[in-house]
Amino acid sequence: MTTEEPHTLESLAGQLRGLSNIDALRTLAELFPGEVIFSTSLGYEDQIITDLILANDIPIKIFTLDTGRMFSETYSVWKKTNDRYDTKIVAYFPKQEMVESLMTGKGPYSMYDSVENRKECCFIRKIEPLNRALAGNKVWITGIRAEQSPNRQTMTQLEWDDAHHLFKFHPLMDWSFDDVKQYVSENNVPYNPLHDRGFVSIGCQPCTRAIQPGEDFRAGRWWWEDNSKKECGLHVK
Ligand code: ADX
Ligand code: SF4
Repeated sequence: MTTEEPHTLESLAGQLRGLSNIDALRTLAELFPGEVIFSTSLGYEDQIITDLILANDIPIKIFTLDTGRMFSETYSVWKKTNDRYDTKIVAYFPKQEMVESLMTGKGPYSMYDSVENRKECCFIRKIEPLNRALAGNKVWITGIRAEQSPNRQTMTQLEWDDAHHLFKFHPLMDWSFDDVKQYVSENNVPYNPLHDRGFVSIGCQPCTRAIQPGEDFRAGRWWWEDNSKKECGLHVK
């Protein structure tokens, strides 16, 4: 089913068609009061969406999944963002007993040993907290862009997420990386300093590295795995 009564994917797409991002976000917040939530990884794209929401006072909730393995630079930009917009980004943290059991049983770098182990860590640190964050909401906003991966090129700006039973809206779906950089610089948006050191897509510290010019945008994520396996499971249909 692609519906959240009384809205269908088609009817909602029709209402958003042709709107600017600010108007589309505002429309969603009006149609689903208190039930629109934005997930920020504090990366370039997400900082733009945070700016669109907070600079325009749009009532959309903002949270981040603090996996416990983020770069110190990511925590710094989180603080800068709270200060700049006088806000408090909501933190979701993995369950203490699950992390204790993983770290005791397999140590801190089990993700390098097998895809199964890596997915186990992603489940504990991202998926389980994500499910708690999304519960009770009807629209999930993300910073996904089509250019980021072949898989993302098949996505549309508004989607139905059957796994979480909500609509997903990706405001920057058609933006290029140059559009992103331009917005950040023109609007003086706080950003992760790792972006100036070759990091494009930034996730957890053990699983992210800088990329070389010409490499795929996501080449620095889980670089030791096959391309086909490189999604952490946050965005499954
Ligand atoms: S991932 O699936 O590979 O981890 P990616 O880093 O490309 O995702 O980010 C895509 C979108 O997923 C982001 O724009 C953001 O909405 C969401 N996201 C990713 N990581 C996090 C995080 N740690 N906390 C909250 N949202 C996140
Ligand atoms: Fe664990 Fe790496 Fe997944 Fe982060 S990206 S949750 S450290 S496996």
